Amino acid sequence: MALPICIVVLPIFLLSASASSSHGNGSGGEIDLSTLLTFKAQLSDPLRILAKNWTNEMAFCQWLGVKCSLRHRHRVVSLELPDMPLHGEVTPHLGNLSFLSVLDLANTGLTGPIPLNIGRLRRLRYLGLRDNSLSGSIPSTMGNLTSLHVLDLMNNSISGRIPVELQGLRNLWYINFQKNSLNGSIPLDLFNNTPRFIELNLGNNSLSGTIPNGIGYLPALQSLVMEFNQLSGPVPQAIFNMSMLQEMYLEGNHLTGPIPSNKSFSLPMVQNISLSLNRFTGEIPIGLSECQNLEKLSLSKNFFEGIVPTWLAKLPRLQLLYLGINKLNGPIPAVLSNLTNLLELDLSSNNLTGRIPPELG
Ligand SMILES: *[C@@H]1O[C@H](CO)[C@@H](O)[C@H](O)[C@H]1NC(C)=O
Ligand SMILES: *[C@@H]1O[C@H](CO)[C@@H](O)[C@H](O)[C@H]1NC(C)=O
Ligand SMILES: *[C@@H]1O[C@H](CO)[C@@H](O)[C@H](O)[C@H]1NC(C)=O
Ligand SMILES: *[C@@H]1O[C@H](CO)[C@@H](O)[C@H](O)[C@H]1NC(C)=O
Ligand SMILES: *[C@@H]1O[C@H](CO)[C@@H](O)[C@H](O)[C@H]1NC(C)=O
Ligand SMILES: *[C@@H]1O[C@H](CO)[C@@H](O)[C@H](O)[C@H]1NC(C)=O
Ligand SMILES: *[C@@H]1O[C@H](CO)[C@@H](O)[C@H](O)[C@H]1NC(C)=O
Ligand SMILES: *[C@@H]1O[C@H](CO)[C@@H](O)[C@H](O)[C@H]1NC(C)=O
Ligand SMILES: *[C@@H]1O[C@H](CO)[C@@H](O)[C@H](O)[C@H]1NC(C)=O
Ligand SMILES: *[C@@H]1O[C@H](CO)[C@@H](O)[C@H](O)[C@H]1NC(C)=O
Ligand SMILES: *[C@@H]1O[C@H](CO)[C@@H](O)[C@H](O)[C@H]1NC(C)=O
Ligand SMILES: *[C@@H]1O[C@H](CO)[C@@H](O)[C@H](O)[C@H]1NC(C)=O
Repeated sequence: MALPICIVVLPIFLLSASASSSHGNGSGGEIDLSTLLTFKAQLSDPLRILAKNWTNEMAFCQWLGVKCSLRHRHRVVSLELPDMPLHGEVTPHLGNLSFLSVLDLANTGLTGPIPLNIGRLRRLRYLGLRDNSLSGSIPSTMGNLTSLHVLDLMNNSISGRIPVELQGLRNLWYINFQKNSLNGSIPLDLFNNTPRFIELNLGNNSLSGTIPNGIGYLPALQSLVMEFNQLSGPVPQAIFNMSMLQEMYLEGNHLTGPIPSNKSFSLPMVQNISLSLNRFTGEIPIGLSECQNLEKLSLSKNFFEGIVPTWLAKLPRLQLLYLGINKLNGPIPAVLSNLTNLLELDLSSNNLTGRIPPELG
């Protein structure tokens, strides 16, 4: 690796620091040191966390939140400062930390955009930026982060579309974009090449269009959260046939259509399902009767019809059952009193007949 010739153009304060006891030497070490100092210089650091710790009394590899490679000494492999009030913008220079594997700046008061140069961090496995005030869009250059396992942007102000380039991230197992302002549709091929996916959370955005079919073919998916968007159309059938899925939150969209019947419905691991506040039709899917781990079932505010099925009483772990505001009819089954773990039951605003069985009291 060539020594950086551009070090001469760095501001004086960086030069003086890198020449002193912070040990920014060795191939690439100077770049990493100057990058960290540029990162620090761009943050207001009101509690003087970095100002007090990132000093030349110590080698930068020992600075708070910094870890260097064992093999490539003086190369930063992780920068982790979660929950430290730093306040300010992320410098594009971070893209020069070419050995960086973990970047965790969750809840640090970051503002401004995610720099495009982040796409140069080809060794990056973990990118944690949740609970900041980042704005702008997700840079399409992030499609070059082919080592990325975890991408957590939850709770920022990121807008625009999900870039189709992210489909190159074949090692991803976790995406969390919840509580941003993403819009447009979810790229249809986004999940065609990501077999390790375990957790996918796109909740609380403004995403529209349909749910990509490819999601139903993620063999390891345990958690699917797409609640509170403007998604429409039927849910791909394959999503109701996922052997590892534990939670499915699709509440608050414009999803339509009946849920597949038991022949193509198999969610053996599922614990929590919420399909509330959509436009689903048809009967309460009988496939649910095989979901022995079900704890929470929320189908409220849809157009489900037919009866309240007695097989609900055979779901041993059911704690929360919300069926209110639908078009259900017939009696309230007394056997629901068999649900000894049931904490909450809502059957309101349907067209149910008969008395409330005293057993349910
Ligand atoms: C690195 O810098 C330190 C102090 O600045 C010095 O002691 C050491 O010899 C240098 N190592 C190399 C390989 O240049
Ligand atoms: C900086 O933080 C590191 C890691 O917490 C700690 O070991 C070190 O003593 C601190 N240095 C100073 C000068 O506070
Ligand atoms: C580091 O990154 C910045 C911004 O992306 C760039 O201008 C600079 O040339 C890079 N190289 C070094 C050695 O700082
Ligand atoms: C979102 O992040 C802010 C800090 O930026 C924090 O105060 C707030 O509690 C977070 N909200 C959620 C829902 O986590
Ligand atoms: C990814 O890297 C390649 C080669 O370095 C570059 O040509 C391309 O523009 C980058 N892609 C994105 C989306 O940034
Ligand atoms: C998405 O939001 C941007 C503004 O952030 C707007 O310009 C664009 O028209 C929106 N696109 C869609 C499909 O809603
Ligand atoms: C998502 O939106 C719903 C409805 O507005 C809200 O109740 C919920 O707290 C939001 N979730 C997060 C994580 O912000
Ligand atoms: C299901 O929901 C309950 C209560 O909201 C929660 O404690 C539990 O962790 C959830 N299970 C899964 C797999 O998310
Ligand atoms: C589907 O449900 C029907 C009616 O309860 C039942 O007769 C049938 O055996 C079920 N099929 C499977 C594959 O579970
Ligand atoms: C359900 O998934 C299994 C295993 O992934 C597959 O063999 C089967 O064909 C699927 N059934 C339907 C109806 O899609
Ligand atoms: C409800 O419990 C009673 C007594 O344990 C049992 O006889 C009955 O078969 C149960 N009904 C259902 C639908 O599980
Ligand atoms: C409610 O059910 C009764 C009979 O069970 C039926 O006559 C009536 O039309 C239903 N009302 C609605 C709004 O579906």
